[in-house]
Amino acid sequence: MPWWFFRRRSRPAASQTAPAIASGWLPGEVALPLLHGSRRYLQEQPYLLPKDLGEVNRLDFQHYILRAVLRGNYLAPIQQPRRILDVGCGTGQWAFELAQQFPQAQVVGLDLEQVKAATSPPPNYHFVQGDILQGLPFDDNSFDFVHQRLLFLAIPQAAWPDAVQELARVTAPGGWVELVESSPAPQDLTPSGPATQEFCRLGGALAALRGLDTEGTVLRSLAHYLEKAGLANVHYHPFDVPLGKWGGRLGSLMAMNLHEAWKAISAPTAARFSRSEQEILQLIEQASQEWNKYRTQLHFAVAYGQQPFTR
Ligand SMILES: C[S@@+](CC[C@H](N)C(=O)[O-])C[C@H]1O[C@@H](n2cnc3c(N)ncnc32)[C@H](O)[C@@H]1O
Repeated sequence: MPWWFFRRRSRPAASQTAPAIASGWLPGEVALPLLHGSRRYLQEQPYLLPKDLGEVNRLDFQHYILRAVLRGNYLAPIQQPRRILDVGCGTGQWAFELAQQFPQAQVVGLDLEQVKAATSPPPNYHFVQGDILQGLPFDDNSFDFVHQRLLFLAIPQAAWPDAVQELARVTAPGGWVELVESSPAPQDLTPSGPATQEFCRLGGALAALRGLDTEGTVLRSLAHYLEKAGLANVHYHPFDVPLGKWGGRLGSLMAMNLHEAWKAISAPTAARFSRSEQEILQLIEQASQEWNKYRTQLHFAVAYGQQPFTR
């Protein structure tokens, strides 16, 4: 079956007709300059992290850590999916691996922008440019497995219920939706020291300007969103990852990852709160020292649910 089968066929492109998901975000008020120091950010999107080579490398690094922590790429009890969608696919690494694991399946990665265009993905993988906040460019019931990981810095809190509803819409009867999230809230980094709390406060204030969740509400509401979207057999699996060498190899790797993620927003944080970038970078260094001392853990959750066979 050709990949373009999955593009919305019976309706015009979603961006032309479907109303955008109400997000509460006003682009003109908080849009960042495209370039901030040496980093590149998207304009006209609530998404807080950069889109550049440094972030591509970090996302791949993070992918391998999460795969090791979860001992696999997903938790939903999928059998032999024929059509798989990864929303906000980033580097595409998760989707590439699913395409290799299920060579009979067609796998689609959707994101605002394609990265790693130069690499050769598996033949059954295809990239589709799209924006979950504008509705997905696919027909109802198009996929057997829909996955979305780490969009808590991309989807404004008010838009989450509709975004999950949209994931459910494109999921076929009997198919599964799986969400994997973390949270920027200080209560999702515990126990934590003063520098960690201060950076969370600044990062949270920056996120709040974009309507993003700063309290961990999204993380704790994933199962509720799935149920509200009409999914059945909903499971919620919270898990913690240690930060620092006290947590062994995975703890050291996750600390490096979070350190890089925080550095990735150091320039916009400094600019927004009239601090020097050097000051913010020092705060991040202090925070990362604290993680080992306080034995800090970062909270995550996986939630998945099944589209009923009859809807
Ligand atoms: C933190 S990254 C996670 C990438 C990937 N899911 C992973 O776990 O490695 C978030 C991704 O979501 C994408 N993104 C942000 N806003 C989006 C939107 N409105 N629609 C689709 N993708 C979006 C970003 O471009 C980025 O690639």
